[in-house]
Amino acid sequence: MTFPIDFVRSQFPGLNNDMILMDNAGGSQTLQTVVDRIGHYLINHDVQLGASYTTSQAAGEALDDAVASVQLWINAKAKEEVIIGPSTTALLHILSLCISKQWQKGDEIIITDVDHEANRACWNSLAKQAFVIKTWCINTNSMQLETDDLLDLMTDKTRMVCVTHVSNVLGNINPIKDWAQLVHDQGAQICVDGVAFAPHRSIDVQDWDVDYYVFSTYKTFGPHQAVMYGKQALLEDMPGLNHEFITTSPYKFQPGNVNYELAYGLKGVVEYLCRLGNSSGKLSRSHLSLAFQQIAVHEARLVQKLVDFIATKPQLRIIGANTSDPEQRVATLSFVHEIMNSKDIVEAVDPHQIGIRFGDFYAVELIKTLGLAEQNGVVRISLAHYNTEAEVEKLIGVLGEVV
Ligand SMILES: Cc1ncc(COP(=O)(O)O)c(C=O)c1O
Repeated sequence: MTFPIDFVRSQFPGLNNDMILMDNAGGSQTLQTVVDRIGHYLINHDVQLGASYTTSQAAGEALDDAVASVQLWINAKAKEEVIIGPSTTALLHILSLCISKQWQKGDEIIITDVDHEANRACWNSLAKQAFVIKTWCINTNSMQLETDDLLDLMTDKTRMVCVTHVSNVLGNINPIKDWAQLVHDQGAQICVDGVAFAPHRSIDVQDWDVDYYVFSTYKTFGPHQAVMYGKQALLEDMPGLNHEFITTSPYKFQPGNVNYELAYGLKGVVEYLCRLGNSSGKLSRSHLSLAFQQIAVHEARLVQKLVDFIATKPQLRIIGANTSDPEQRVATLSFVHEIMNSKDIVEAVDPHQIGIRFGDFYAVELIKTLGLAEQNGVVRISLAHYNTEAEVEKLIGVLGEVV
């Protein structure tokens, strides 16, 4: 199957220049359809919602329609399960503040040392209120979070297990569906950071049976916002943090409401993905799934080139799964050099107009645990489906001279 790379690239106006962008796990390019929709909203619907006059009614309907497309994207059962906010970090803070109002002193929360701080710091801060925070640590031999280690941490006081679907450093895909079942069997809930997964694979919150799932839309070809899914029954029971008289979801979790034009823009991502899946462009789950099947194959082809290159350089070591298998990893690949500092490698690549990056990527604990802080973390190449084989070959040529 040929990947329609020309069609794909034509949809992203920010790619029309000489830069090769491979820091996509930091932020992706924005679709033209999204840019158009944001402009359209500001020109046609720029009023306050909820009034009885025609423009306000039309604006409300336009926004509802955009939220319905996000519901389809993640396969939520109801639009009340879709909460939109400024960032994943902010949404997880909101969740931790609201849900902890339902817990008792001594209740336990499990976080991991693999996660981005977004899914750690908000939970860690609950320790001040006498909740117990436990850390599920990576097995540094397998470079995985081992399920048995989680079971050892869980007790009848465990309320929440906070995990990442894909580490933004390691790139490996965690078995979220299995973990959700295990966590539920133990009577707890699961909160998943889907930020590093969402640009690469289809989201299906019902199939996985997760309780909360959060991702950032500025890394999934959309505007600078984030989406949080929560199971309706759980959200209904949970106190919010909006004005007291606002008691329904999602509004009770959206203080000051959402940024209307950006939320309206989100439908542009769903429209694009469905069109990639099927030229009819009809919005459907099967078209989303077809789009991501193509994306997975294309990205694996690109990653294989990087894996093959690194195998020829004994001084380089992949930090994460040493494979391009799309079942096991996404196209975010990190490595370190036996001697060179990660910063020096990236800065030697910079003049070639290739955007890669070094650091801890706010997965600070992981980088500490792996003993990589001293060398400025890892070098991370994070590809998106709009990257080409030629771009990867150019990077490999440059890296070959640098390392
Ligand atoms: C895996 C992961 N989780 C969470 C975040 C935080 O996202 P946001 O910037 O939307 O708060 C990031 C951002 O880099 C990330 O990579």
